[in-house]
Amino acid sequence: MDQVEVLKNIIETRRSIFPKSYSTDEIDENVLEEILNSANFAPNHKRTKPWRLKIFRGEEKNQLGITLANIYQQTVNSQSFLEKKFLDITDKVAKSNAIITISVNFSGLLPEWEEIAATAMAVQNMYLTATAHEIGCYWSTPGMINHLGEFLGLEENQKCIGLFYLGKV
Ligand SMILES: Cc1cc2nc3c(=O)[nH]c(=O)nc-3n(C[C@H](O)[C@H](O)[C@H](O)COP(=O)(O)O)c2cc1C
Repeated sequence: MDQVEVLKNIIETRRSIFPKSYSTDEIDENVLEEILNSANFAPNHKRTKPWRLKIFRGEEKNQLGITLANIYQQTVNSQSFLEKKFLDITDKVAKSNAIITISVNFSGLLPEWEEIAATAMAVQNMYLTATAHEIGCYWSTPGMINHLGEFLGLEENQKCIGLFYLGKV
């Protein structure tokens, strides 16, 4: 295949693959680094590189899962609380081999949407690189991400806009 065909194939075969379909196999550390590194090549206006990506694995990932479940419990009103949903949150985290939190840094130099757009392009790069390595992944945007700032140590001008779940399929 020439490179045009390779690219077309990766773009067209990319899919969101959810934690229930992940195997328990470990993603190689260098593959995870490649996925993360690909984000840095996204186009970005005024070279602000607004994406802030943090990898969680192992015990840190468990802590992220517990934090998300606690946020759910604390933010949902008691009539709507579902035990199943509460348990599903940590289960999804446990079934993923790694999670990358997706945050945006608003530089103040550009309209906020431009920095969100650049971050979304960085996520697409990660999706495509994961596809090329046959790693399952997907971008998730649960309401809990609006309450992750303290856990992630985000600054006033930063916002978490998603969780990127990864696992071997
Ligand atoms: C900004 C953004 C947010 C998303 N948030 C969620 C989400 O919260 N839950 C979910 O199941 N999928 C989420 N997705 C994944 C979409 O459901 C998925 O991309 C869509 O179903 C199309 O499937 P594909 O990615 O396989 O083409 C999100 C995708 C994007 C781009």
